[in-house]
Amino acid sequence: MNQNAIGVFDSGLGGLTAVKELNRILPNENIIFFGDTARVPYGTRSRETILRYTSEDVAFLKQHPVKMIIAACGTVSSILGTDSPVQDMPFTGVVYPAVRTACSITKNNKIGIIGTPATIKSGSYERAIYKINPEIAVTAMACPLLVHLVEYGYTNRENQITRLAAEEYLTPIRNAGADTLIMGCTHYPIIRDIIADIMGSHVNLISAGEEAAKYAKKCLTEQDLLTDSLQTGHNIYYVSDSVASFRENAKHFLEDAAYGQVFSSRI
Ligand code: DGL
Repeated sequence: MNQNAIGVFDSGLGGLTAVKELNRILPNENIIFFGDTARVPYGTRSRETILRYTSEDVAFLKQHPVKMIIAACGTVSSILGTDSPVQDMPFTGVVYPAVRTACSITKNNKIGIIGTPATIKSGSYERAIYKINPEIAVTAMACPLLVHLVEYGYTNRENQITRLAAEEYLTPIRNAGADTLIMGCTHYPIIRDIIADIMGSHVNLISAGEEAAKYAKKCLTEQDLLTDSLQTGHNIYYVSDSVASFRENAKHFLEDAAYGQVFSSRI
């Protein structure tokens, strides 16, 4: 048993999709989230910059009592590959957990991946898929506009601009006949309805953030690091930009009830 919190970080607020799932499946756990909202997006930056930001994000979380760190960011997870930025506690990114689930549920061995330009350029998801099953056909598409549209709040199912952009990115994956789509960026589940409309109801949609949360539960359980089951978990959020912008944008990712204390912090 370990009473420390689970540390979660993201380039922005997309990682809240992992926090929401953690709250659902591990209601007793305390969560400390850091969103680097002053420097989002990471997905269009160089590998060197993303690695530097990652070290700073991890160092920030490690100033707090955390027992595990989750990089709830497709871009960071992709640039790290199989490397862990921490040696003294469990760590997971989102790539392996999402791929593990996608490979286990595809029936026709055709998987689509969508992510930021840095994620897709890294080839991280493909490499992880081929390691599990080299027979799987992968179609990967970078979606540079989607993070901006989500951050801007263009998330409504009827939003024609987001729909048009998503249609453009998803058409090659639909045409390739994928029966499983990895939403490889933690922002994308917010427009899940639009993605589902375009892909069709027969396609499994995998949320990378949610899978990372499930995988974290597995790691903590196996290593006997879960907290006392009698306590109610609390969330504390830190952001590098203003608390006001967090409050404005976080409503797209979390139900109001899940809000805890929010602080603005320089890293
Ligand atoms: N959180 C990032 C990801 O999951 C998306 C935003 C960004 O580009 O930083 O890839």
